[in-house]
Amino acid sequence: MLKEKALTTMFAEAKKYLMDKIQNQPVLGVILGSGLGGFAEILENKTVIPYQNIPHFPQSTVKGHSGKLIIGSIDSRFIMVMQGRFHYYEGYKMSEVTFPVRVMQVMGIKNLIVTNAAGGINPEYEPGDLVLIKDHINLMGANPLRGTNISSLGPRFPDLSEAYDKEWRQKGLTIMQELGLKPLEGVYAAMSGPSYETPAEIRFLKTIGADLVGMSTVPEVIVAKHGGMNVLGISCVTNYAAGISEHKLSHAEVIAVTEKTEKTFTRTLTELIKVTV
Ligand code: HPA
Repeated sequence: MLKEKALTTMFAEAKKYLMDKIQNQPVLGVILGSGLGGFAEILENKTVIPYQNIPHFPQSTVKGHSGKLIIGSIDSRFIMVMQGRFHYYEGYKMSEVTFPVRVMQVMGIKNLIVTNAAGGINPEYEPGDLVLIKDHINLMGANPLRGTNISSLGPRFPDLSEAYDKEWRQKGLTIMQELGLKPLEGVYAAMSGPSYETPAEIRFLKTIGADLVGMSTVPEVIVAKHGGMNVLGISCVTNYAAGISEHKLSHAEVIAVTEKTEKTFTRTLTELIKVTV
């Protein structure tokens, strides 16, 4: 286990590297989920930094899948976007999955938008729908805050009773209506993956109140809340969860749906950013 001092030094070194490359203070962090990376292209005056150049950022396990930080402006807001995230199922430790969020925190970024591709459990959802996350259920079997608490970063027992900012969600629902989308909100259940769920697991998730299922987001949100950040979450429903339809699940289908939804997603995210910062 890495010592507290070692970790805080690592966060500080990553922060210094990034702050030396940019002129302004970013006000918002955005994490783009699988297939949703295209949003970052619309930023103006971009600084693009491959993850592998940032001190102590986890090294990608997948060739050609390294990911980039893209820092730039949108509607005169200076933001920092992660194009690609580190998933627990890839074998990263929780401290690695959440390392970028800690770097955002120590950089003074107080607001975070998390996005993901998710399976739809709620029968009202269809592939291509965007759903605001109103709460989550952590079924990953791990919590990124396990271990010695770094009290300079946050409390031992952080409150998660409003993990996803209520005011932002209300504004987000209005935006969705204005854009002609269904104003959807739901509970996201996080599984460790990488296998998709069985129909029995999906029935279980439905019973315990989940509307969406995925393999990411929750670790980053837990760490962001521990660090006192405000969070907004949005899922792109890419498929009916296992057993909800006859259809078999595939990653290719997930990516195909995110690609098809890209324009709507980018438009919605751009408007959501305006209500957060
Ligand atoms: N299950 C888990 N993760 C997912 C799914 C799913 O059905 N779709 C996209 N990510």
